[in-house]
Amino acid sequence: MQVDPFLLFDHLGPVKWGPGEGIGAPDHPHRGFETVTYLLSGEMQHKDSAGHSGMLRPGDVQWMTAGAGVVHSELPSDAFMKNGGTLHGFQVWVNLPAHAKMIPPRYQDIPASRIPEAVSTDGKVKVRVIAGESLGQAAVIETRTPIMYLHFTLQPGGEIAQPVPEGYNALAYVIRGELRAGDECRIVHEGQMARFGGGNAVRLAVDNKTAEPADLLLLAGQPLNEPVERYGPFVMNTRAQIVQAMRDYHDGKMGSI
Ligand code: FE2
Repeated sequence: MQVDPFLLFDHLGPVKWGPGEGIGAPDHPHRGFETVTYLLSGEMQHKDSAGHSGMLRPGDVQWMTAGAGVVHSELPSDAFMKNGGTLHGFQVWVNLPAHAKMIPPRYQDIPASRIPEAVSTDGKVKVRVIAGESLGQAAVIETRTPIMYLHFTLQPGGEIAQPVPEGYNALAYVIRGELRAGDECRIVHEGQMARFGGGNAVRLAVDNKTAEPADLLLLAGQPLNEPVERYGPFVMNTRAQIVQAMRDYHDGKMGSI
């Protein structure tokens, strides 16, 4: 998936691990973009070379701006490793504009209790506002690249026309249930992603006849329209910048944990 300004969408799990079986991503670098981790189940421990660390629990969000470069680790917590459990979450990579690729790294750790939530007047649409704005609630996270990241739960018969600024690229990923998306009410099944065609709102609905509610993530962002050169954990604008990133990492300039 590469839909400007999004570089990657990773659905983690759901996977059930026994005691001692959990796996994660030990020390590795990033430069030139942001990683956004949103957990629904399980427990992850994050650490980085800039001295940040945080624990992610269900409903929490970690917004990591790699900028000029960090080395970080993303691992199941000690308790999760010991007891096992179900890990379920998402990681999205958001590109940074050329002028912000070398900014100092930053962490925003937002516990579930601080993520704004709203419910429609008929009670059939619930939203968690991770980035952007919905149903009168604005996110607490600051994003470098203007984006929206909304987690909707729609009950059968629920419907919303979510405003999205003109020119944004918009995607919906269905976590569970069956969604009807867009003006044509196309069916989008669990595990599928829909891309919207433009306009200034996206229509999301769940049929009245459907037995189950639907959960989905709506991602939308202003395209950067800049060249993308990517190599593993580095995303820059030119090949020379990629070579420089690899050199800086090998020279230890991104630090260590
Ligand atoms: Fe990472």
